[in-house]
Amino acid sequence: MRTILNGKSIVLGVTGSIAAFKAADLASKLTQAGAAVDVVLTRSAQEFVGVATFAGLTHRPVSTGLYESNSELGIDHVVLARRADLVLIAPATANILAKLALGVTDDVLTATVLAGSQPLVIAPAMDAGMYGSPATQANVETLRGRGVHFIGPESGRLASGLVGQGRMTEVPGIIGHLRAVLGRNGDLAGRRVVVSAGGTEEAIDPVRVLTNRSSGKMGYAIAEAARDRGADVTLISAPSALPSPPCVTLATVGSALEMRDAVQSACAGSDLLIMAAAVSDYRPANPADQKIKKTGDDSLIIELVQNPDIVAGVTGDRLVKVAFAAETNNIIENADAKLLAKGVDLIVANDITAEHSGFGTDTNAVTFVYPDREPEQMPLMDKFDVGNALLDRVLPLLN
Ligand code: C5P
Repeated sequence: MRTILNGKSIVLGVTGSIAAFKAADLASKLTQAGAAVDVVLTRSAQEFVGVATFAGLTHRPVSTGLYESNSELGIDHVVLARRADLVLIAPATANILAKLALGVTDDVLTATVLAGSQPLVIAPAMDAGMYGSPATQANVETLRGRGVHFIGPESGRLASGLVGQGRMTEVPGIIGHLRAVLGRNGDLAGRRVVVSAGGTEEAIDPVRVLTNRSSGKMGYAIAEAARDRGADVTLISAPSALPSPPCVTLATVGSALEMRDAVQSACAGSDLLIMAAAVSDYRPANPADQKIKKTGDDSLIIELVQNPDIVAGVTGDRLVKVAFAAETNNIIENADAKLLAKGVDLIVANDITAEHSGFGTDTNAVTFVYPDREPEQMPLMDKFDVGNALLDRVLPLLN
């Protein structure tokens, strides 16, 4: 799986917060994703973490002082500022926010920020009192006004043992934000995309539900792929164990009827709907108010009524619609019939009985079925790559 981080040049500034230990994981994850990571440690960061850790993880020189230039870099801050696609400061202390707001340049990190014009992303980490102080808040506002992207801080337990807002956002959250920032001018910039995911739950009684084996992985991967290409993404998710993707608007729903309402309202003014959710075709006709008790009978009959077809019912001025068809047999014939019945522009058909394909897996082998040309069978791919292949094919249909 290749994300937008692959091949990008990122300056990772680390400042003197206890959360600096998490920056090592961040440097490692960004490097694994194919980014060239140039780490800059402030003097106080070096009280918490060391050069050897970051040099070892990134396989690149680490910058520490304005007067300790890396021979490979020449004048560190100028070289770093020129080549970086993005500067990330994580963790960022109250002190660095104050210096950046004022334009102080007394170390490599502040000089790099001032010399460069690439996006600046900041993940603060500090005591809640320091974060909430009028001085820090004013500095955050100043920096926001200059277009700086802030991630967090989150509320929770702080290193001091106190609870409050000041925890650095966890590494996956930071990486999701970076991908969104790097992709902001992508080929879906300015587009509104709605994606549904997961398996709906239909109440039988207050305790039991009728559901299916959908994990939500396919829909979540599409949402991330669209976000990384600049789209404004709304993800309408039936219950799923997956973490909510950063920089995506998440609406959680339970039943098919709830999903229909959420999809309909999200589609108003949207360009594209991708229905990756596994929607229950039927729901119990009369869900019980109380838990259904065991009786002496050997069997229990639950009457089901049909759910409305969500994708067929949604309309929009310029809405392009994509449906999925999870099949166990006669894949293309069934997908062809669904193209017509659902009035969609494209069907993503997949054989859920095939190995490494379908529910719960990280990969999928799909066939794109079109109204006006031959089906296109794709190889087994990571679900994120399936999402991008799908978006490539949908792109010409938008407008
Ligand atoms: O008819 P079938 O359930 O196989 O169609 C699957 C496609 O239709 C999926 O994209 C699914 O999200 C969508 N669907 C829907 N409303 C339903 C059932 C399925 O939009 N009630």
